[in-house]
Amino acid sequence: MSGGMLYGGDEIGALVFDPGHHSLRVGYAQEDTPKAEIPAIVGVAPEEPKLEPEAKPDESNVSSNAPSHKYYIDTTYLYTPRPNMEIHSYMKDGMIEDWDLFEKIMDYSYSKVIQSESQYHPVLFSESPWNQRHRREKLTEIMFEKYKVPAFFLVKNAALAAFANGRATALVIDSGATHTTAVPVLDGYVITNAVVKSPLGGELLVHRAREMLENMGIDLTPTSLIASKEVIREKDKPKFTMKKLQFQPTNSWMTYMIKRTVQDFQQTVLQVSENPYDERAASNIPAVHYEFPTGYHQDFGPERFKLAEGLFDHAMLGAGYIAATSAGMCDVDIRPALYSSVVLTGGNSLLQGFSDRLSRDLSSRTPGSMRLKMIAANGTVERRFGAWVGGSILASIGTFQQMWVSMQEYQEVGKAQIDRKCP
Ligand SMILES: Nc1ncnc2c1ncn2[C@@H]1O[C@H](COP(=O)(O)OP(=O)(O)OP(=O)(O)O)[C@@H](O)[C@H]1O
Ligand SMILES: [Mg+2]
Repeated sequence: MSGGMLYGGDEIGALVFDPGHHSLRVGYAQEDTPKAEIPAIVGVAPEEPKLEPEAKPDESNVSSNAPSHKYYIDTTYLYTPRPNMEIHSYMKDGMIEDWDLFEKIMDYSYSKVIQSESQYHPVLFSESPWNQRHRREKLTEIMFEKYKVPAFFLVKNAALAAFANGRATALVIDSGATHTTAVPVLDGYVITNAVVKSPLGGELLVHRAREMLENMGIDLTPTSLIASKEVIREKDKPKFTMKKLQFQPTNSWMTYMIKRTVQDFQQTVLQVSENPYDERAASNIPAVHYEFPTGYHQDFGPERFKLAEGLFDHAMLGAGYIAATSAGMCDVDIRPALYSSVVLTGGNSLLQGFSDRLSRDLSSRTPGSMRLKMIAANGTVERRFGAWVGGSILASIGTFQQMWVSMQEYQEVGKAQIDRKCP
């Protein structure tokens, strides 16, 4: 093993965490894929009242009267409806926002995924290119103070994705759940003032697809509420029975579960057309058949393309446009290097036809003197977990081992050490 660190004679593996709005990717450095992908949400429900309260709380002590909560994490727990369980996100604008909920996810990661004590493993975290200083320091503080990690490091997710694709210099196009970004990376460092961001990502597609399906009168009841269903003919009214619940699931839980239902539809059915959307051309392409959890099923034709077109047809926010804008904001000397290494990453880039359309769109915007080369990993794992994979490689190379912020440095210098060592 080349990348392990020695602590008291034991060889210890570093951990890599890659947080996003859709999920948190967690695993051991040097491995090819994360150990787990945990949905980036927490279910919060009031604790069931105790049958026999031990002692009557002191009237003056308000906090002891405050209801305590139970937290539900990861798909198996979240997909089960529970009375008063509300779904909360701890991310906002690509950054960690709710630290208490975030710590619940970290506790879960150590106890259920890693199944080892945090104090034994150096930790590398990815961050968004616009992460703020106070949030970086807060995370550093939590990792050293609460989790007692021996060493810590922060790297911008786009730089890691470039790295995973074998590039130190690249124009990284990351299309995730809540946004699509164009991020120039030069010699492993993000050029932060040339990052261009668009809110057109996977969630927008899910939102539009949900609207369309509801307007078509299609019932989106999620699988976890369905007890049984019958086989019916195409477009017939679905025949299914609901699970019997003694309570009404919360709105936030229903919204989340419907989102997951539509996400499956989006990944199976939607496609970006190679050229700007044209109804006639789209209707010549074979339709895709899809069955919903209720058993209802039908063919989807041109609407598959019409929905996905939204990611590209916007004058200022389309993926090709933001890529060209970002390159244009960089020094003219490095533009050829960026155009010749356009790295595509993020789950939403797996949408059928996405990379072909981006490549076409971007080539029409590439200056004639430059060569355009797009690098898009073929495997879905490499594409969805680009930043995680980059972190896994980085944290295990020998020369990186001197880069870590160690516990000792943290104790001597304080949390600001992260700003010095991790630009
Ligand atoms: N095979 C697929 N086809 C189409 N879309 C997909 C596919 N797989 C994942 N997605 C979409 O990709 C999005 C998640 O991408 P990713 O994991 O990169 O996001 P994230 O990093 O967690 O979020 P963000 O970048 O917004 O913080 C979701 O909207 C999901 O529906
Ligand atoms: Mg992301």
